[in-house]
Amino acid sequence: MLKQKANERKEITYTLKNGLSKLVSPKDLEYLHNRQNCPEISSFNLKDTWRNKQRNWGHPLHSMASRSGSFPPSLADYFIQHFSNVGDLVLDPYSGKGTTPLQACLLDRTGFGIDVTPEAYILTSAKVSGIKHDEAVQYLKSIEYGISNTNIKDVPSDVKVFFSTKTLAQILVIRERLLEDLELNSNSINYTTGKLNHTITSKKEKLAAYWLGILIGIIHGSSIYSLSLPCSHSFSMAPNYTKNYAKKHGLKKPNRNVLECMIQRSKLLQSEPSPRVYGKAYIGKAESMPDSWVLQTKKNIHKQCLAF
Ligand SMILES: C[S@@+](CC[C@H](N)C(=O)[O-])C[C@H]1O[C@@H](n2cnc3c(N)ncnc32)[C@H](O)[C@@H]1O
Repeated sequence: MLKQKANERKEITYTLKNGLSKLVSPKDLEYLHNRQNCPEISSFNLKDTWRNKQRNWGHPLHSMASRSGSFPPSLADYFIQHFSNVGDLVLDPYSGKGTTPLQACLLDRTGFGIDVTPEAYILTSAKVSGIKHDEAVQYLKSIEYGISNTNIKDVPSDVKVFFSTKTLAQILVIRERLLEDLELNSNSINYTTGKLNHTITSKKEKLAAYWLGILIGIIHGSSIYSLSLPCSHSFSMAPNYTKNYAKKHGLKKPNRNVLECMIQRSKLLQSEPSPRVYGKAYIGKAESMPDSWVLQTKKNIHKQCLAF
């Protein structure tokens, strides 16, 4: 199949299965060669696939927040069960809302997640840090909320479209106190280099991240705990469209007791036994993995590592 005939630019003629030829670099040749020797299996031909599971299959913690582009938990479950063993490390370097790390922990593997987006980092940490509902409520009730540093008048009108003043005032102050405990701010990550300056290590940080994850999950939506006008959680909606739509359909911005909504939501998400193994979330670019991750992996070098 391969014609190892190099031209002056060090490109090699590669003959494809359909008989056509193309010029490729030595690096691409290696990739194509490996692919040719690796059988391709269409998932449609598999009998035991993740598709056999019901749509909402999985631990309730998986539904902390909806986010577009996420794996169904059954897909993560399938690959973790087939390609790793209890006690292994499972890494999703683009972990999104943390489906893979959480499923890994539920299957007694250590679930690691890396994501460049703070929201994804928080959601992953919230799911894999092993925070229990009762200790979380105790922490939430112990916070001295005071008043927000942000004047509600300074909140952009595009945001105010979604929330009643009463609900928004609570969101601002709760969010502020939790971020203070987490010490996460705009200096925590340099988006150009992917260098990060944040970890969630202490119990207080884990608790704060847990509640921020819960808050992210109810900030929009149409459930009895959702804080905004009834709307999609995972797709952004143009503020003007939202305003007009709400007017036309008589939708009301709900007045919520935000802490109570968060507590009720947490109770529901923890209605099944929690994972026995905990994991970790890292913020940053996958291609510049943090030192802490490398150190942690070295400690576990005797274990297998499955990367998604
Ligand atoms: C499709 S989502 C991942 C979904 C995830 N596997 C799940 O099932 O929830 C892709 C994620 O990759 C993250 N991302 C994009 N570029 C990245 C990079 N260079 N390093 C780390 N994360 C990145 C995005 O923030 C996004 O959350």
